[in-house]
Amino acid sequence: MNSKIEAILARKGKAPVAELTAYDYPTARLVDEAGVDMILVGDSLGMVMLGYPDTTHVTLAHMLHHVEAVARAAKNAVVVADMPINTYNTPEQALETARALMAVGADAVKLEGGVAVEAQIRAITQAGIPVQGHIGLLPQKVKEEGGYRMHGKTDEEAAAIMRDMEAVVRAGAFSVVIECTRHSVAKAITEACPIITIGIGAGRGTCDGEVAVYHDLVGAYPWFTPSFARPKASIATDITRAVKEYIAEVQQPK
Ligand code: KIV
Repeated sequence: MNSKIEAILARKGKAPVAELTAYDYPTARLVDEAGVDMILVGDSLGMVMLGYPDTTHVTLAHMLHHVEAVARAAKNAVVVADMPINTYNTPEQALETARALMAVGADAVKLEGGVAVEAQIRAITQAGIPVQGHIGLLPQKVKEEGGYRMHGKTDEEAAAIMRDMEAVVRAGAFSVVIECTRHSVAKAITEACPIITIGIGAGRGTCDGEVAVYHDLVGAYPWFTPSFARPKASIATDITRAVKEYIAEVQQPK
């Protein structure tokens, strides 16, 4: 395991970890220089960068293009690259995909699922590639599950998420994202889990860190903001104002 990943793992129970998505060079450079711990090149880029309705349209070619740009910018943060849907259906395919993402500059890869992808995670970690798991709500399964909803509401669901966490840990991941999961369940998982848990829509202070989608944080995608997002800026408003000023200037009668 490399020293950047060891430094993240050493934060367990001590100092919360801040992870943020970025998909291009200038954004990645800004968030890296601001001091974020991990940059996730998430397949959320399918929506916020490419205009698809969900992440199931994202391909490995899309990911390679964006990871390469982010890796050029990130000097300190750990760059985590999402593995898109249907690129880790078998352990062999998972390893091939992970190697391709590492070859363009990722420090680690992320894939969705627990028990169902334990063999895939193990194949990647055994090859020395750091893995961040992803449990709770799995955006790549949004079509099967009929939409985005809170997970872990029943005892059965909570136990299944706990089993997923155990599978991710057994397979050698260094971290796991817990998405849209009942807050008490996320807290229980974090307490039981020896690796770094990263929450999104899983409550404040329930995990070892949090991840946010950059566009939600800075108000860059005004057409949809998840209910759990905590925007700190509204750059879409600034962009619209600047563009309107420019249009008015250019179109002023001579
Ligand atoms: O793709 C992404 O941005 C993600 C986060 C929501 C965790 O997976």
